[in-house]
Amino acid sequence: MKVINKIEEIKKITEDSKKNNKTVGLVPTMGCLHAGHASLIKKSVAENDLSVVSVFVNPIQFGPNEDYDKYPRTLDEDIKLCSELGADYIFAPSPQEMYPNLEKFSDLTMVAPPYKFTDMLCGKSRIGHFDGVCTVVTKLINITSPDRAYFGMKDIQQLFIIKKMVKDLNFSVEIVPCPLVREETGLALSSRNKYLTPEAKTNALTISKALFAIKSGVERGITDTKLLFDTAMTVLAPSIELDYLEFVRAEDFEPVESITEPTIAAIAAKVGNVRLIDNIIIGE
Ligand code: PAF
Repeated sequence: MKVINKIEEIKKITEDSKKNNKTVGLVPTMGCLHAGHASLIKKSVAENDLSVVSVFVNPIQFGPNEDYDKYPRTLDEDIKLCSELGADYIFAPSPQEMYPNLEKFSDLTMVAPPYKFTDMLCGKSRIGHFDGVCTVVTKLINITSPDRAYFGMKDIQQLFIIKKMVKDLNFSVEIVPCPLVREETGLALSSRNKYLTPEAKTNALTISKALFAIKSGVERGITDTKLLFDTAMTVLAPSIELDYLEFVRAEDFEPVESITEPTIAAIAAKVGNVRLIDNIIIGE
């Protein structure tokens, strides 16, 4: 397994592979890899001749008051995990390599997903976040020309927006959704879990518990999302600051009031100053 920092170098490697009829899998990440990422990497290794894991903390998807500077960077551990899992390359460019004129942000060409899908859920409090995500994912796809790109279902809004971007802009890549991975406690795996103190972690567990309460409510026949919301609120630790808990149709992300078809219950909440997201599919 080799670490590549330069765009032209990884571009040549993946282009040569394609010329030799080898399939390429891309696993875009911001590093600090955990078992959730490992499941994506394993799938890419199983399904492609060559797998590239990108490790890049993308500055343009963080707001001015977000955690870009302190986002955990653990490249040595990431390299170890990727080589154990059989990935072929880590692409770990510098911000300068990806955005040579980052200081002149207004000069940067951005890929902007529809406002309808960014002015909701995470996009409401993270202005410009999905423009930053779509721009970097477009660049990573153009750089590595993958046949398949792997994304986790924990970032369910990101996955929906990327799938839409790929369809609307006619990208030649298959987006492969991979199931959300949880700890045995139920907590959804996230690089940001690293920030949690033991006490914060106990509180954080109530986020997935609230979603499980919604699921069991639906299984008992409750369909009214207001009632399901109230059920979840009785479970969520009082110290947790809720950003949103919303119910959207799985197919098209339209908000729903009653669960009559597959629906995503998506939550974002702050535990201390750590913002966590989670979701569950109900009504299947
Ligand atoms: O999900 C992430 O880790 C990031 O948003 C992604 C897709 C790697 C883009 O920076």
